Amino acid sequence: MKKPLIAPSLLSADFANLQRDVEMINNSKADWFHVDVMDGVFVPNISFGFPVIKAVKKHAKKPLDVHLMIADADNYLQEFKNAGADILTVHYEACTHLHRTIHAIKALGMQAGVAINPHTPVSFLEDIICDVDLVLVMSVNPGFGGQKFIANTFYKVATLNQMISTEKSKAKIEVDGGVDLKNCKRLVEEGADILVAGNTVFGSENPAMTIEQLQNCI
Ligand code: DX5
Ligand code: ZN
Repeated sequence: MKKPLIAPSLLSADFANLQRDVEMINNSKADWFHVDVMDGVFVPNISFGFPVIKAVKKHAKKPLDVHLMIADADNYLQEFKNAGADILTVHYEACTHLHRTIHAIKALGMQAGVAINPHTPVSFLEDIICDVDLVLVMSVNPGFGGQKFIANTFYKVATLNQMISTEKSKAKIEVDGGVDLKNCKRLVEEGADILVAGNTVFGSENPAMTIEQLQNCI
């Protein structure tokens, strides 16, 4: 089994010491920075926008994996590119013309991802799975860090993994929400390639060590 990529979620970082936390990730075994953008419309919370992403980009030595939880992503794709996004993920539930949005993201030179909420069946992705670089499976309802992992995610990851091989897609599977040292192994067994972790990393005594433990969960 392949080790998962680890993407610590900056939502759980200390915003008053953001550079310190960015350097911690730079110096750790983490693979990506997971950056959660919330607009207070698509999700019942507001996080941060372009100035913060640009500030992170200035110091980050690893790719920025930007997860948009916003209603009108189409209006801001170029700005996210300018801010430093390497991977840009939009929500299935928030995009009326998802195919167009995915190709617009790619045309801007970013990798394109689609995220699905816990209630959205994996089967809804059948006709887009060969266009995306990544599928982000939400294992909590988006909006907040530190929530409880929804166990049905194991089944969704397995189903998605099956679909990806049947359709000969190159999409990677990312799991986001409530990922911890107890559920990480099974997530990778079911087919997860990338694990996002906020509270598990930043709530631990030694975040860099926790990142390594998540990576070695298999
Ligand atoms: C939730 C965000 C997640 C969140 C994960 O809406 O998309 O990325 O930061 O945090 P934890 O790992 O604490 O559930
Ligand atoms: Zn996220």
